[in-house]
Amino acid sequence: MRWVEDLFQGHTVIVGTTGSGKSNTLRFLARKAVEKGRRATILDWCGEHGLGFLTPFLPRIPFSDVRELLPTVLEETLRPSSGGISIGYAVTEGLEVAESWEELVVFLKTRALKRDMGAMAALRRLVPLYRRGVLVDGKLEEDLFSDTVLDLSNLPPFERRICLSMLLALIYSRAVSGVLGGDLCVFIDEAWQIHTGFEGMPVTLTMLMELRKYDVNVFAVYQEPLKQLLRYNMVVHTLGHQSRLEYFYSLFPAGVDKLRVGEAYVYTLNRRKWVKVKVPITKAEHVVNARVPRTTLLQEKKEGKVQYSKPSLEERIRRLEKEVEMLKKRLNLKC
Ligand SMILES: Nc1ncnc2c1ncn2[C@@H]1O[C@H](COP(=O)(O)OP(=O)(O)O)[C@@H](O)[C@H]1O
Ligand SMILES: [Mg+2]
Repeated sequence: MRWVEDLFQGHTVIVGTTGSGKSNTLRFLARKAVEKGRRATILDWCGEHGLGFLTPFLPRIPFSDVRELLPTVLEETLRPSSGGISIGYAVTEGLEVAESWEELVVFLKTRALKRDMGAMAALRRLVPLYRRGVLVDGKLEEDLFSDTVLDLSNLPPFERRICLSMLLALIYSRAVSGVLGGDLCVFIDEAWQIHTGFEGMPVTLTMLMELRKYDVNVFAVYQEPLKQLLRYNMVVHTLGHQSRLEYFYSLFPAGVDKLRVGEAYVYTLNRRKWVKVKVPITKAEHVVNARVPRTTLLQEKKEGKVQYSKPSLEERIRRLEKEVEMLKKRLNLKC
């Protein structure tokens, strides 16, 4: 199947209406990637990609890897719905003093006490990820992106969007700093979730596209073909009655509205023409419900304990004590 080979050159956008076969195509291509001996990771929005050859884990995001990109990622993911700009502002201020997620949360709490709306909103979004063990302080011991499914399905919807954007930022920052390693395929189901609501090309996606320089192929699933995405390889499943829009008619081959589930038109930059294909079915082997993180942290290993998403009572008390200490310091209380 030459079209499959061609898709591994450059990035690929997979579009189609709900139920048209996008996720199946994503799994099929992920398996091909593994068969080709490439490293692969699926960012799994709904927990539907439990595959025998890739292991599902809860993602973990170390503070130091994403700190620089954090305000941008938060602003962008939350705009226009949840005061993205004021969240970004509060977080930017916090990053001037904080050296860890823990310290950032404490800083935001101090601000929130003074009714700073940006800080309150930022806390509302970050704390659930922090509590679940997705935001971690410390260094990851293993490679998060080789042959894994990173399962986001246990996170609440808004936090899930943030987590997805942060994972992209993590991949990007690791690539730029030379620790990601090349020959990686990143599969992102429901990638449109990181920028619903506006037409502009988000920074997160731009970063992702930059990844070609670092030998990373991205396969991203969208519900409809955004104009900015037409510069990549395309797999177009049926778009439902949307394909009757004049815009889509002129763009895609006639018959795109008559495609059945699993059929698609593929356009690759190598061949520069449309071919009709039937994507082989690739079933998920089990439902993902990952509550265990991929990697232990170095200090967890040293202490001989692996901390899963729920921190122990002692750990929570320790965090609270540290919080009280820092709050006192910041509020300048003499008590
Ligand atoms: N190539 C295919 N051949 C046969 N059935 C398919 C194919 N692709 C998907 N399906 C079936 O169609 C349904 C929806 O597929 P899915 O890939 O989840 O769609 P989407 O992600 O676009 O919503 C699933 O039940 C799946 O088994
Ligand atoms: Mg799907």
